[in-house]
Amino acid sequence: MEHATIDRPAGTAADWTISQRWNRYTAAEHAMWDHLFERQAKMLPGRVASEFLDGLDVLRMTKPGIPDFDELSERLMKATGWQVVAVPGLIPDDVFFDHLANRRFVSGNFIRTPEQLDYLQEPDIFHDVFGHVPLLANPIFADYMQAYGIGGQRAANGGVIEKLSRLYWYTVEFGLIRGSADDLKIYGAGIVSSYGESLFALDDPSPNRLGFEVRRLMRTKYRIDDYQQNYFVIDSFEDLLRQTLETDFGPIYAELADAPDIEIETILPTDKVYTNGTQAYARAKAAA
Ligand code: PHE
Ligand code: FE
Repeated sequence: MEHATIDRPAGTAADWTISQRWNRYTAAEHAMWDHLFERQAKMLPGRVASEFLDGLDVLRMTKPGIPDFDELSERLMKATGWQVVAVPGLIPDDVFFDHLANRRFVSGNFIRTPEQLDYLQEPDIFHDVFGHVPLLANPIFADYMQAYGIGGQRAANGGVIEKLSRLYWYTVEFGLIRGSADDLKIYGAGIVSSYGESLFALDDPSPNRLGFEVRRLMRTKYRIDDYQQNYFVIDSFEDLLRQTLETDFGPIYAELADAPDIEIETILPTDKVYTNGTQAYARAKAAA
């Protein structure tokens, strides 16, 4: 989310939204959505947090293919008061935070091509909608996302957006949660929308899996170009709220002002370690 200086493209509204133009999608694009949806819906039970599966029905539209944001927003509005709006791509931090603070989730309107089936640089509509929207139908997570937007406005004023962005990264995008049988489940949108990472994040011996702790996480670097080397595990969504929404970050930002960043692979003596990762995957990639 470090893209505060981009210009607003012609044709976007003052809040950077555009029309989704649902009628413009081709049959192949709708088929791509249906394919990705089926593949994930089939592999996720048993791997994903139950709250995510509970929210998945909100995506089952009256017509097949890519969800029409008008219909989707109507359903989501009934569930938790959220809407989904289309934007052309990356938007400035303050615009992003303002949308979240007003319970509007921004989504790209394009879908990946067949060549990008398993990897793409920029989030597409499958990532944004399949990955993020099911949990927005959950009242607790819906509140968390709105609070994050308000917290982002505060962090922007304090010049500490990077710290808050790490929290977003390691929860909303790549979070793990303890399941009812003390097994780990995925809930982060970056994982659940990726076939490969849905397997890797839980099963691969390579990444570290560590207990969630706000201060620790705000100092931890992350990578955006490949599977994560660290995942942080929350005990429950209630506990996530306790440590974030119900905690004033002002004193924490002050306390961390001079604290050094933590390198991606580092495990601290204070960490609760679920997996001490081999990092074999990342090392093999780096050596290639
Ligand atoms: N409580 C945080 C603050 O004081 C805001 C926040 C809430 C951040 C929920 C993330 C998630 O700024
Ligand atoms: Fe995302």
